[in-house]
Amino acid sequence: MEWKSGRNLREAFISFFEERGHKHYKSFPLVPDDPTVLFTIAGMVPFKPYFLGAREPEVKRAVTAQKCLRTNDIDNVGRTGRHHTFFEMLGNFSFGDYFKEQAIPWGWEFLTRVVGLEADRMYATIYRDDDEAFEIWHKVVGLSKERIVRLGEDDNFWAVGPVGPCGPCSELIYDQGPEFSCGSPSCGVGCSCDRYLEVWNLVFMQYDRDTEGVLRPLPKKNIDTGMGLERLCSVVQRAKNDFGTDLFRPIVERVCALAGVRYGSDGRQDMAVRVISDHIRAMAFLVADRVLPSNEGRGYVLRRIIRRSIRYGRLIGLERPFLTELLPVVIDLMADPYEELVEGRSTIEQVLELEERRFARTLEQGTELLEAEIASRLSRKETILPGDVAFVLYDTYGFPLELTEEICKERGLSVDREGFAREMERQRELARAAGRRPSSLKEDVYLELYGELGDTPFEGYVLSEAEASVLALVKGGARAKTAGPGEEVEVFLSSTPFYAQKGGQVGDKGWIEADGTRLRVDDVKYAEGGLVSHLCTVEEGRISAGMKVRAIVDEERRWAIRRHHTATHLLHEAAVRVLGPHVRQAGSLVTPEYLRLDLSHFAPISNDEMKKIEEIVNAEIQANVPLQVLLSSLEDAKALGAKALFEEKYGEEVRVVRVPGFCAELCGGTHVDATGDIGLFKIVREEGIGADARRITAVAGMPAFNCLRQAYEELRGAAERLGADMFAVCDQVGSLQDEIKSLRRALEEAKLQALAARIDDILSKREEIGGVSVVTAAFDGADVGLLRELGDRVKSRQPRSLVVLASRDGERAQLVIMADEAAVKVGVHAGKLAKEVASLAGGGGGGKAQMAQVGGIDPSKVEEALNGVPDILRRMLSS
Ligand code: ALA
Repeated sequence: MEWKSGRNLREAFISFFEERGHKHYKSFPLVPDDPTVLFTIAGMVPFKPYFLGAREPEVKRAVTAQKCLRTNDIDNVGRTGRHHTFFEMLGNFSFGDYFKEQAIPWGWEFLTRVVGLEADRMYATIYRDDDEAFEIWHKVVGLSKERIVRLGEDDNFWAVGPVGPCGPCSELIYDQGPEFSCGSPSCGVGCSCDRYLEVWNLVFMQYDRDTEGVLRPLPKKNIDTGMGLERLCSVVQRAKNDFGTDLFRPIVERVCALAGVRYGSDGRQDMAVRVISDHIRAMAFLVADRVLPSNEGRGYVLRRIIRRSIRYGRLIGLERPFLTELLPVVIDLMADPYEELVEGRSTIEQVLELEERRFARTLEQGTELLEAEIASRLSRKETILPGDVAFVLYDTYGFPLELTEEICKERGLSVDREGFAREMERQRELARAAGRRPSSLKEDVYLELYGELGDTPFEGYVLSEAEASVLALVKGGARAKTAGPGEEVEVFLSSTPFYAQKGGQVGDKGWIEADGTRLRVDDVKYAEGGLVSHLCTVEEGRISAGMKVRAIVDEERRWAIRRHHTATHLLHEAAVRVLGPHVRQAGSLVTPEYLRLDLSHFAPISNDEMKKIEEIVNAEIQANVPLQVLLSSLEDAKALGAKALFEEKYGEEVRVVRVPGFCAELCGGTHVDATGDIGLFKIVREEGIGADARRITAVAGMPAFNCLRQAYEELRGAAERLGADMFAVCDQVGSLQDEIKSLRRALEEAKLQALAARIDDILSKREEIGGVSVVTAAFDGADVGLLRELGDRVKSRQPRSLVVLASRDGERAQLVIMADEAAVKVGVHAGKLAKEVASLAGGGGGGKAQMAQVGGIDPSKVEEALNGVPDILRRMLSS
C-alpha cells in the first residue's frame, strides 16, 4: 500500500464517487440547519430531510467530505489516539437510488483497488440476520465466509439518534496485524482494541424510528456511508494512531515545541498533547461556523473544549496563553478545502484569545479550591465530591461540570451530579422568584376561547382601519357579555388591523369604535396561539359581544414603529458588515420611541465601528430603496441570503422582508414602504449584556432628530457659557481642565509653604528623650499627604528624630508618626507607638517602624494624644 496524504485520500474518495454519478457537495457547516441536533455528527445529517422523504433531493447520489463534531465521549479524547471531537467523515449517499448491491462492492473496490489495502487483511461485519448483505459480500465481492462476521444491534445497527432515520449496517474491517493487538485471547473482529479497525460504515438506511421506538419503513431505501478520514489516514500511513498522521503531526509538533516537551516520552504528557491537538481543530472550526463561547447549547460545548485544553496545557507547563499560537498550523493544514478558516481567521483569533484570558484568571483559584476539596475528601476516605462544591466551581470559577468530573476521576472521586443539578435549580428559582404571576383561571379562559375562535386574521399589513365583529369579551379574567364606561376589558375580534406584540415589535395602540361607543386600545397581545386580545378601556358607551365595530390603529404611532423596525434590519446588516459574519441577532425590541438590537459579538463595539455602522444605515436610508415583502419557502428565502433563526422549519412558508441590494430577513413585522421613510438614524448607546453579547440602542425618524437636536442645544449652551465657538468646546474644556490641575498644584504648594514656615517654630519645641528628638505639632485642615511631606522636612533637619504630627479636620482627627533610620536603630517603632497612642486617645492605628498612622481620633483628644507621646517613648526605649 502506497503512502498517501490526508488530502490525497479526501480527493481520491470524492473523485471515485463523482465518476460513479455522485454530486459532490462542499462540507456543510458544523451547525446543522436542524434545531433537533446540536452539531453535525455525521455526513448524513445535512441530508436528513431527503432520507425522511420530507424534501425532494436535487440529485439521487451525493458524496461529501463532511466536517463533524461529536462530544458524547469527550473524556476519552486524548486518552486514546482514536477519539476525536472534530473529525472529517467521507461519505457516499443514495437517496432512494442504489442500495446494498452497489454500496458494498464500491466500498470494497475503493479500499482495495484505489487505496490499496490488502484484501487478505480485510473483514466485513454485518447485522445478525442480514442474509442479503452476506450474499453480496460472499458471492459478489468474493470474501470468504469466515471473514464475514455477524454482530448484534450494538455494533451493526446505526441510528442518528433515538428517533429518526436508521438501519442495519455493514462495516469494513482492516487487520493492522498482531503488533496492534490488546493480547487478549478473545481478541478478534469486534474487539475494541487497535488490531481490527473498523474503517468504513455502510448504513442501509430503511427505517424511521418514532418517539415510541417503533421502526417504520422509510418511503425509499437509502444508502448512508461514513469513513473517518483520520482513521483511514492512520491505516494507509501505517501510523501508530490518528495523531501520527499528516493531518495531526504538525499540530502535535507545534504543541510540543510550545510546551518544550517531547511526544512519546511520558504517557500523561502525551495525553495532554493529544487533547490540545484535537481540541484546537474543533475550536477553530466551531468559531469559523459562528459558534461563540457561552453558557448554554453549542456555545457551552465550545467553552468546555477551550477550557479543557487550557487545563491540559497547564499540565504540560503551558502557563501563558497558547491557543492562538496553534492556529497558524491548523489553518495551514486545513485551509484547503476549508476556506472558512481563512475568512474567519481574525475572528477565531480574537474569540480564542478573549476566552483564554477570561478563563486563565480563575483557573488558578478554582484549581486550588478543587485540589483542597479533593485532598480533604481523600483524607476522610470519601469518594464523592458534593454537588454544591462542583456548583461553586461552575458558577464562580467557570469550571464546566465535565471538567470538574474529569479532574476528580483522575483522583478516584466522582461528582454528585444530582446535587449539582439541585444547586443549579435553586439558583434558577432565586432568579425567577421576582414577580411571576401565578397561573390562574385566566389561562383556562384563553385556552377555551382559542378552542372556539382559533387564530385572528391580521389585516394590518395593508390596513390601519377595518370593520370587524366583536366575538368575545373577557373582564377580570372571566368571559363577559358587555362592558361599560371606565371598565377595562379584553376584546376579541373577527379580524384585526392591530399588530399584536411579537418578534420584538410592541403591540399597536388605537381605538375601537361603534355609534355611541368608543374604547381606547392600550395594548395588543396574543392570548393563546394566534388569538389576538385587544386590551381596552371603555371611554364612552357600552361594548357587547356580537357588535359590529371599527378598529382604528393609531397610525402615527404605527409609523414610528415601522421606521424603527426597518431601521433594526438595516442596523443588523450594517453590524454584520462592519463587525464580521459571526454577528447574529440575539434579541430585539422595536418601539415607537427607540429600538434595541442584541448581537452576539465578543468585544465592545468601538466608536469607529459605531460610526461606520451609522454611516452605512444612513446611506441606505438616503438611497430610498423601496422594500419588498414576499412569501416563500424557507429554502428559497435562504437562497436569497435571508437572515433566519434556528427555529424555522423546512417546508414552512415564511415572510421575507427585503431591502433589495442590501439585506433580507425573515420577519412578520410591519415596515416602511421605502428606506427613505425612516428619515434619520442614530445610535445612542452600546453596552455589554452577558459574556458575548452587545446591546445597541438606537433611534430613527423624529426621535433621532430630537436626540441630535438636544445634543446640539446642550453643546450650544456649553459653548455660550464658555464663551467659545460650538465646535471648539472640547479644546476649551481641555484647557480649563489643565488650568484647574495647575491651580490645584499651586494651592498644595502654597499650603506646604505655609506649614514649612512653621518648621523652625516646631523644632524649637522639641524634647530630647533617650537621645531621640521628639517633635510634636497639630494643624487644622491639613491632609495626610501634606503631613508626611512636612514630617520628611523635619526629619531631614533633625537627625535621630521622632515626628508626630496631627491634623484636625472638623469631626475627625488623625496622626502621622514618622521616625528616621537612626531613631529606629535605637529602638523607636512608629507602628507600635501608633497602637499605644490609639489605645490612649481612641481611634485605630498601626504601621511600620519608620512610618505609621492613627485615624478616627476625636479632635478634642488630639492634645492628650500628643502629650502622651514622650511617656510612651520612654517606656519603649527602656524595654
Ligand atoms: N452515518 C453513519 C455513521 O456515522 C455512516 O457511522
